[in-house]
Amino acid sequence: MKQSNTGLLQFMKACKSEVEQRLDELVRPSRDDSARIYEAMRYSLLSGGKRLRAVLMIAVADVVFGSHAHVLDAACALEMIHAYSLIHDDLPCMDDDDLRRGMPTNHRVFGEAMAVLAGDGLLTLAFVTLAGMPISPPVTHDRLLRCIEEIGVGAGPEGMVRGQALDIASTGAADVSVDLLRSIHAAKTGALFLAAVRAAAILSGASDRVLSSLSAYARALGLVFQIRDDMLDVIGNEAALGKRVGSDYSKKKASYPAVFGMEESQRLMLEAVASGHEALAAEGLSNTLLSEILDYAATRDR
Ligand code: IPE
Ligand code: IPE
Ligand code: MG
Ligand code: MG
Ligand code: MG
Repeated sequence: MKQSNTGLLQFMKACKSEVEQRLDELVRPSRDDSARIYEAMRYSLLSGGKRLRAVLMIAVADVVFGSHAHVLDAACALEMIHAYSLIHDDLPCMDDDDLRRGMPTNHRVFGEAMAVLAGDGLLTLAFVTLAGMPISPPVTHDRLLRCIEEIGVGAGPEGMVRGQALDIASTGAADVSVDLLRSIHAAKTGALFLAAVRAAAILSGASDRVLSSLSAYARALGLVFQIRDDMLDVIGNEAALGKRVGSDYSKKKASYPAVFGMEESQRLMLEAVASGHEALAAEGLSNTLLSEILDYAATRDR
């Protein structure tokens, strides 16, 4: 497995600046009296972050279609949904965290009511952004509608919201089974990765076969990403991570290290890395950025 690859890091840097420039244009108040809610939304949305879900959409579009301008707004929409999920995840009634992306969490700065509304605002604006995407090749009305549905399903009560609900219900539970832990992770984190990959592939006109292999890849990637996230809660560095270390442990969250220990968590993560590579190999996509993203997810320190 390759450790941090300069090609990928450069690609990620370029995507990040492209996406952040577009987000800055998309998320602006159109009247004076909405300045405060936009301030709260922009505080969390434009405060850094790896932009990995957007990077993934751009990489999929590049691989499938050869360019990515046609997925840029969808990638921004997904980052809006992701930022909303983080704001709500940090609330006192959820994970009760005070540090995110190296800054005080949204509710610590704007208060809980405004933080809830900032999340609501980002979620709804994401769908307004998707609905307003231009229809021009390879994007068709049909593909855009399918993309919106994928993202809605991934974010909603069958996807991320379901995972967050299972996560909350399992917090503090003594006997979290392996199957339950896997489905929490597949839903709370995996579902948005799956939606990112499928939406970008659909907009780019991928064949059913490629879509199916990319979906298997995305499921593996989501699991790898969340197992590594759980492990970084134990071995991570707060300054690099921009989040509190030991937060899961102190809140008795259902996590891989809590259920399996660190060594077995690492082994299970590498199993998922291997299955992600297999899925790519099935379509001859082994030597692409998608493969590097998988290795990056397993070795990242932030
Ligand atoms: C954090 O996601 C939430 C999880 C699903 C683990 P990221 O680690 O992608 O957060 P940012 O966007 O880089 O801040
Ligand atoms: C969060 O999982 C997944 C989301 C849907 C936001 P975590 O609760 O582990 O994410 P962090 O560690 O707070 O970023
Ligand atoms: Mg959480
Ligand atoms: Mg959390
Ligand atoms: Mg975590």
